[in-house]
Amino acid sequence: MSHAHWRLGFHIAPQHAWLNDPNGLCQFRGAYHAYFQYNPLWPDRDTKHWRHFVSPDLVHWEDHGTALVTDIPEDRNGVYSGSAYVAPGAASDGGDLLCLYYTGNVIDPDDPAADQGFVHGGREANEILVTSKDGETYSDKRVLLRNDDYPTVCTRHVRDPKVWKQGDSLYMLLGARDQNDEGFILLYESSDGSSWRLRNEIFAHERFGYMWECPNIVQLGGRDFLACCPQGLPEQETRWQNRWQAGYFPLEGSVLTTHLVDERSFVEWDHGHDFYAPQTFVADDGRAILVGWMGTFDHRYSSAPDGLDWIHCLTVPRELTLGADGLLRQWPVAELESLRGLGIELDAEDELALDAHRADLVWQGIEGREGTLVLDDDVCLSWKADALTLRFLDAAVAAGRQDRVVPLPNGVQDLRVLVDSSALEIYVNNGAELLSTRWFPRDEALRVHCAIPCAQACAYPLQDALAHAYDGVED
Ligand code: FRU
Repeated sequence: MSHAHWRLGFHIAPQHAWLNDPNGLCQFRGAYHAYFQYNPLWPDRDTKHWRHFVSPDLVHWEDHGTALVTDIPEDRNGVYSGSAYVAPGAASDGGDLLCLYYTGNVIDPDDPAADQGFVHGGREANEILVTSKDGETYSDKRVLLRNDDYPTVCTRHVRDPKVWKQGDSLYMLLGARDQNDEGFILLYESSDGSSWRLRNEIFAHERFGYMWECPNIVQLGGRDFLACCPQGLPEQETRWQNRWQAGYFPLEGSVLTTHLVDERSFVEWDHGHDFYAPQTFVADDGRAILVGWMGTFDHRYSSAPDGLDWIHCLTVPRELTLGADGLLRQWPVAELESLRGLGIELDAEDELALDAHRADLVWQGIEGREGTLVLDDDVCLSWKADALTLRFLDAAVAAGRQDRVVPLPNGVQDLRVLVDSSALEIYVNNGAELLSTRWFPRDEALRVHCAIPCAQACAYPLQDALAHAYDGVED
């Protein structure tokens, strides 16, 4: 069978080759921009560039090609991850200026200090700024920080600038690994976006992994949530089941005055097999929106079966809100509902077939303590007592993905499942718990089989919003 039915209809993915972290997310001069880590030489060599997608509405995206490539000595082994800051009115035409901050990765195996992983030598991490006044052409690159500029507590692993404005200053978070193999965050401050001075180092009380990648800040309801991706947490029965983790610390006070976070407060964004390195941005209407990498570097499972020549995608944009428990909720942005066709009501026990493998399945007012949803004969989501389990029913389809169990002391009240060919996003209890997982179904049609007593349930077929995403773009 051809691979065509695994092509995604509303998840950003490259037409060919490799995708990882979302980068430079922003709304700039009206349009939404999503860049991502892109390796055109996959699977033979590893060179990261930034590829660029643009959308008027967070739903219909167009591939605008490769935007930032490795072309200066300071980023010769990769234009690594980073973020966007839109400077109001700062462009030469009087309009807003797009400022992209990223890490230039340099590897030097001949450095006598080079060790495995290039932790103490053989690596440079340069923080670099590129600007654009149209989102299509870019300025020269300016190196802002080099290894010698970081505090001596740092190893050579420092990266992934997240820049935002607060009060009169700009701030930058950098993920880092210290000399004792402890993950932490550097917080820098700047008045002009070009020269930066160290303000804080933010550690966990107790060591929490050896490296923190992709730091991020979410500010909602007057509270600060400091996000990062700790590497090296030991896998537990219902936590930290991916190779590396992605989550946030709800802070007691402001990130600007935080020196220590409580590692026991760390909340995982997502319990699925394929989720890492999320980034957020604030849209012009004030919404905080998160996009994650729907993939991992986990070699236990495959995300490119049978020679598929592209690998990984991004999650849909998710609006973040603050729950009554003081933790964050994630929910697909409302714009995605524009893809819905006519809804088909579902009974408590029901079976349904849709022509395309794209759907938005919604259950509200769920009754009782048990429920089951089976998609095709491949994937089963079930809950009973205090836990929910995601299970692949067929080992070949699972491609290495084992069961995922999420503790749910208060049961399941509502459920929403987005199916997009080979991407599955599961939202439980109004987006309090999520599971994002890739899935390579055998069939072109989607079969839904449910046993979920509830007040209301509906299956919406979804249109393909990305059919023309790649038209006219060069590789
Ligand atoms: C996270 C990460 C980042 C780095 C990028 C390289 O997935 O390792 O820390 O900047 O990927 O592609």
